[in-house]
Amino acid sequence: MQSATYEQLSLRVAHAIVEQIRIKPKCCLGLPTGHTPILTYQILANWSSGQGQYADSDAPAIDWSQVLCFALDDYLNVDEKHTFQAFLEKHLYSHTNLPLDNRLNPCASEDYDLLIESCGGLDLTVLGIGGNGHIAFNEPGTMALSYTHCIWLSESTRVANQEAFGNLESTPHTGITMGLQTILSSARIILMASSEAKRKIVERAFDEPVTLDLPASLLQTHSHTDVWTDFGYEKSFGNTI
Ligand code: PGA
Repeated sequence: MQSATYEQLSLRVAHAIVEQIRIKPKCCLGLPTGHTPILTYQILANWSSGQGQYADSDAPAIDWSQVLCFALDDYLNVDEKHTFQAFLEKHLYSHTNLPLDNRLNPCASEDYDLLIESCGGLDLTVLGIGGNGHIAFNEPGTMALSYTHCIWLSESTRVANQEAFGNLESTPHTGITMGLQTILSSARIILMASSEAKRKIVERAFDEPVTLDLPASLLQTHSHTDVWTDFGYEKSFGNTI
């Protein structure tokens, strides 16, 4: 299979999000942070604001007025500018008409799962994958039957995320994350992975048996998950008929 470029992968995910909003304007989205979704957010931001490289003057602006966005995870005990909420504000929310009250984060909720459920449940959740197979901040060994919970970040995750903090010492040790069960309760899931560096972990997670050592592998049991990459790997689970 010919590999999609990072731009094509990002456009594909952006289109899937827009399609979800079009078919259900009051939908619940689970949204990731990290390097991988940055262009997807730029595209959505441009389509929403009508400004920038990807703005399309012929297409109607995306209407986020009823959408509910749930951050997958966040750090605990960091200054505001380093939070994932700030990341989502900067790259996506501030370019849209998403109401402030609809920008939801596990740090700001006493019972995130109950909140998600009371809003009708996640319709579409977009995920990245960590170098150790984590999804959101569900590190290897997380229980399958986990809901939103606080976690200790693994060393490899802290190393991967240290760029934003300047050095490893300043990188947080703790976070809060949707659990594996929270994620698996989403009606649809798209896992996006970019760069050859992710190939090995993607192949282990999706071509080998499910194991709690690789939390992403649990997506094999989900009823509608697509794995999309820009290195020629693609797989779907549960929706193949
Ligand atoms: P990345 O992070 O997009 O920066 O590679 C993915 C993740 O850790 O889930």
